[in-house]
Amino acid sequence: TGHITLDLGYKNTGSTKSAITFLDGEKGILKYRGYSIEELAEKSTFLEVAFLLIYGDLPTTKALEDFQSQITKHTLIHEDMKKFLDGYPSKSHPMAQLASLVCSLSTFYPESLKANSSPETMDLTMIKLLAKFPTIVSFIYKKSLGHPLIYPKNKYDYVSNYLNMTFGQRTEEVEIDPVVVKAMNTLLILHADHEQNCSASTVRMVGSSDCNLYASVSAGIDALWGPLHGGANQAVIEMLELIKEDGGDTEKWINKAKDKNDPFRMMGFGHRVYKNFDPRAKIIKKACDDILEKLGINDPVLEIAKKLEEAALSDPYFVERKLYPNVDFYSGIIYRALGFPTDMFTVLFALGRLPGWIAQWKEMHENKEPIGRPRQVYVGHTNRAFVEIEKR
Ligand code: CMC
Repeated sequence: TGHITLDLGYKNTGSTKSAITFLDGEKGILKYRGYSIEELAEKSTFLEVAFLLIYGDLPTTKALEDFQSQITKHTLIHEDMKKFLDGYPSKSHPMAQLASLVCSLSTFYPESLKANSSPETMDLTMIKLLAKFPTIVSFIYKKSLGHPLIYPKNKYDYVSNYLNMTFGQRTEEVEIDPVVVKAMNTLLILHADHEQNCSASTVRMVGSSDCNLYASVSAGIDALWGPLHGGANQAVIEMLELIKEDGGDTEKWINKAKDKNDPFRMMGFGHRVYKNFDPRAKIIKKACDDILEKLGINDPVLEIAKKLEEAALSDPYFVERKLYPNVDFYSGIIYRALGFPTDMFTVLFALGRLPGWIAQWKEMHENKEPIGRPRQVYVGHTNRAFVEIEKR
């Protein structure tokens, strides 16, 4: 079998050639299909970016209309899916519900099992997943409140439809604030892809066995859930709340993060690839100030977050290790201002990351990549003679 190179955590191992997202961690540059994240976040919509990631180019007006109308045809989920929803305990974590509901789409839409067979079925499955995902996400939220579900409405664009299913009511028409629509578009765009991160690699790995898209993305949702990955956005707010309740002594918590005998880590800080400012965090920090001001919200944890950032950026521990705020550091403060509960934050990350997962899965198939199957360095026993149970 020859020589095996060990690279725990794949710190220096490329798993694929990809044309989707470019990331320069030293300089803090992020581009989707060659377009800078700063420009996309400012000028584009989430659906446009989804098209860009999946199909490779920005859509024309006509292509975007077609994309939107294809999606609109598939936004409902099978009514029987609601039985799963009813079965979950009401306080169960939304990420667990999301992963299992997305996986169960493959039972209701079995053509997905052959999605790899032709470009048309592959395309239909991608469209269905994009269409049904916001419906599932908002149903999970409504169920957590014990409120009636709001069905998708064709008159809305992708993001507004999601917001209406989340914050709308059955009894009356609720106006969707354009500030909220813009903020959601920006956040979802910033989360839309991030090359071969833990969840995208999972989607590609699971998909490489020719497993269907729904199951592959469901596995990606699980990978995202952990606090070292997407779960960090929930962990950040919980940390900021804890620091606030503890009296707001940021220095004490910075020291805890530096202490190697203390398991506490500064959540929302550090990144495997960025050794400079995470460009997404820069945009989100600014958006955070703007949105809270526009919505007239004063959140005391924002002050704590800024104090922590300032202290960390001038502390030798963080400077030497090049630890900067990442995408999750300020995003939760915006989600909270928009009215989302903390345990929905990682679900919102998943909603944003969906086009990236789909694009990665599609590219993996188009490249005809072989099944993912890493090797190991065996360090266990060599030969042991079997001992009968009564003699052990
Ligand atoms: N607080 C305190 N120390 C840290 C932190 C932190 N948040 N992050 C890294 N370090 C230290 C770490 O202890 C190590 O120190 P030493 O060299 O003395 O042993 C050094 O910095 C390098 O860290 P690492 O753990 O080897 O780096 P990694 O590339 O394996 O891990 C990370 C990257 C993101 C998992 C890690 O920085 C972390 O746990 N951060 C907090 C969780 C977080 O915010 N995750 C979100 C990541 S960005 C968005 C996403 O993917 O969802």
